[in-house]
Amino acid sequence: MTAHRLTDEHVFVTGGTGFVGQAILERLLSSHPETRVSLLIRGKGSQTGADRLTSLLRKPVFKGWIASVGGEDAAAAIVAKRVSVVEGSLSRITSPIPKDVDVVIHSASTVSFDPPIDEAFDTNVGGARTIYGALLDAGVDPHVVHISTCYVGGIRKGIVPEASLTHEVDWRAEYEAARSARERVELESRRPEALREQIAKAKARHGKTGPQAVAQFAEAARTEWVRERLVDYGRMRAESLGWTDVYTLTKAFAERAAEELWGAEHRLSVLRPSIIESALHHPFPGWIDGFKVADPLIIAYGRGQLQEFPGIPDSILDVIPVDLVVNAALAVAANPPAPATPQYFQICSGKTNPLPFHRMYENVNGYFTRNPLPAEKGDIQVPSWKFPGIQKVERSLRKRERRVDRAERILERLPTTKRTRRMLDEVRTGKHGLGQLRAFTELYRAYVQTEIIFDDTRMRELLHSLPEQTQHDEGFDVAEIDWEHYFQNIHFPAVTTLTRAFASRPTAKARATRMLPARSDVVAVFDLEGTVLDSNLIKQYLLLWAGSVPRSRVAHDLADFALSLRKYQRAERRDRGEFIRTFMRRYEGFKVAEIQRLARSSFGRAMMRRALPDALRRVAEHRAAGHRTILVTGSIDLTVTPFLPFFDEVIAGSMHVKDGVLTGYLADPPLVDEARAAWLRHYADQHGYNLSQSYGYGDSHADLVWLQLVGNPTAVNPDIHLYRHAQEKRWNVVDWKRRSAPAPNPSSPTSEPIPITEGVGDAPVKQERAAASHGI
Ligand SMILES: NC(=O)c1ccc[n+]([C@@H]2O[C@H](COP(=O)([O-])OP(=O)(O)OC[C@H]3O[C@@H](n4cnc5c(N)ncnc54)[C@H](OP(=O)(O)O)[C@@H]3O)[C@@H](O)[C@H]2O)c1
Repeated sequence: MTAHRLTDEHVFVTGGTGFVGQAILERLLSSHPETRVSLLIRGKGSQTGADRLTSLLRKPVFKGWIASVGGEDAAAAIVAKRVSVVEGSLSRITSPIPKDVDVVIHSASTVSFDPPIDEAFDTNVGGARTIYGALLDAGVDPHVVHISTCYVGGIRKGIVPEASLTHEVDWRAEYEAARSARERVELESRRPEALREQIAKAKARHGKTGPQAVAQFAEAARTEWVRERLVDYGRMRAESLGWTDVYTLTKAFAERAAEELWGAEHRLSVLRPSIIESALHHPFPGWIDGFKVADPLIIAYGRGQLQEFPGIPDSILDVIPVDLVVNAALAVAANPPAPATPQYFQICSGKTNPLPFHRMYENVNGYFTRNPLPAEKGDIQVPSWKFPGIQKVERSLRKRERRVDRAERILERLPTTKRTRRMLDEVRTGKHGLGQLRAFTELYRAYVQTEIIFDDTRMRELLHSLPEQTQHDEGFDVAEIDWEHYFQNIHFPAVTTLTRAFASRPTAKARATRMLPARSDVVAVFDLEGTVLDSNLIKQYLLLWAGSVPRSRVAHDLADFALSLRKYQRAERRDRGEFIRTFMRRYEGFKVAEIQRLARSSFGRAMMRRALPDALRRVAEHRAAGHRTILVTGSIDLTVTPFLPFFDEVIAGSMHVKDGVLTGYLADPPLVDEARAAWLRHYADQHGYNLSQSYGYGDSHADLVWLQLVGNPTAVNPDIHLYRHAQEKRWNVVDWKRRSAPAPNPSSPTSEPIPITEGVGDAPVKQERAAASHGI
């Protein structure tokens, strides 16, 4: 008997914005001009489902069809006539189901292997409930094609038939348990002992950035803990029931829901694809919508990040091009079974045209050897895998993980230099690679360590019963796939194009040195010590002290200073503000007039010798671009006067003075970490500056909170903790070198020596700290 082909049916598609859904919509538009299509699309952000359809049609998959109908206007007119949007999600459908629907293709799903258990159940099992419940409520009787996955049968060996699953698990009970898991885990995460542990960890790591930041990091860690725990719930529940992961578990339960809720009385077909990858022919060879299941593994290999892999070399990697899946889905849609007799199809390659894992490896290795991905210096050399066995790879992985953790801990305790940062980079790259290998090992276990073969007899029978022309134009004959040709000429070029597109985005370094846009609504805020000045509060004090101490006090002061060093170190480790407050007590007895005199002479010159030329050059560039340049320091106004000519504004602290002598007490709290962030927010509000477009430069972990406020943060010669954060957030990181020539002057920031003038420079020194520290 000859099978049918879709003609003028009304097809309702869920998941139309996804990889498979887009390709189904394109095929319906381009090859089935009489059909009408309804798409379930959820709103996102400010976009409604209908808005998202408009954006969707701009995607590359539709390009050929749009050109074939005469351009965008003609295409829009056709879409207006043939396509409509049903607003809603898998939890709630908000507009009515079309009454005349003939076919439903339920493709929407989460395809992540390890989402939190409640999310996986909500989308995949709850989603099936919502869709079939809505169809029942609407009183319609379409043929439903339920898209599932070949891997739905769980951990097993041998041939998997195209038939209903045989398990007896109560999917409803599992659904309820999964949904209540979040409440239990949330409660667990809020226990005082758990919170205490999170706070202690956040304090140890971020204590210097201030109490609000500690709270934020502790809360973020709690949320992450909840997520990880729910992922673990999913993973373990899947494993304990005999499935590889929560994705395949929930897809199995979704099939059962479809059978019970819809298939018991209506027409139901279940279509199970294997691993779907780029198109073989249609809409064009190599079409793919972002990285799919096997692609992160392929790219990680191409990047040289996977030195070995625990796959079984002769296991079958079951890959299927997306256009074959779409053709199969539409063929199934046009050929429904009788009511209450669900039919099952597997669209896969493993039985008819098997691809062993070692052959896939040889293909990938050959491709990246001939077409290496570019590295910063030269090309990336890909490793040779020997497949030494799963246990051996696991053991070696565990050993290497322990080694990099140890190296990271040691490096974090060493003083920060360019060398330690480079070593940390190397350790982190190694750690990232191991992390990926660990994640891939767990995620892909089911796909590269299995001895499963999916039967596709029924699928092939359907293919061969299609009219000859349809078999040719819209077929899904996996036997015709030449794997070498497919990978070398179609799939690998498609996925590496995506990575090269990523790689061609400007690097952090390139962004940092890009021309600054001219505008007057932004600020460029510079920290002083370590960022503009290669010096710290202790060195500044010693310079002033050396210029003013009477000979009779030298020995006493030096001894006292040496005895106090540990106290300062401890305070600095705990809190930058505490350190400043403690250390500034040393200024007790210094005369204001004497400091001013020194700032104009020896101390001023010494400070300018320590100014970083790259910093002053950058300040001048910001000024030239019209940005308001601000120097902010935890130091006191009396010592920063040499920098006044370089900035539009200098914000420094001040000390309490009695009869022209410093008492050793600060006049107001130090402007560091969160106090500085509060000041910056207030300053921008008051003066109308746009922080999201502004610039910030800082060197230490204590600068993190205020740097986060600006759209263009730069870590300058950063300490290890700021460096790590900057790397994670892809901030600019720069190494500004010490001076080897005389200091520049502000109007010509490259050559002239710095003027140490009698009077104060042109920038006002402001003391806004009291306001800032009161948490404006
Ligand atoms: N990709 C594969 O290798 C593969 C292999 C075997 C089987 N499958 C099956 O094929 C089907 C399609 O997969 P795919 O690769 O196209 O996935 P995809 O690209 O991730 O697309 C998923 C689709 O589901 C929609 N969706 C997810 N959660 C939703 C919700 N709560 N409400 C409404 N829509 C929701 C998404 O809409 P938004 O755009 O709104 O997020 C998107 O349209 C799935 O059933 C999957 O299990 C896929």
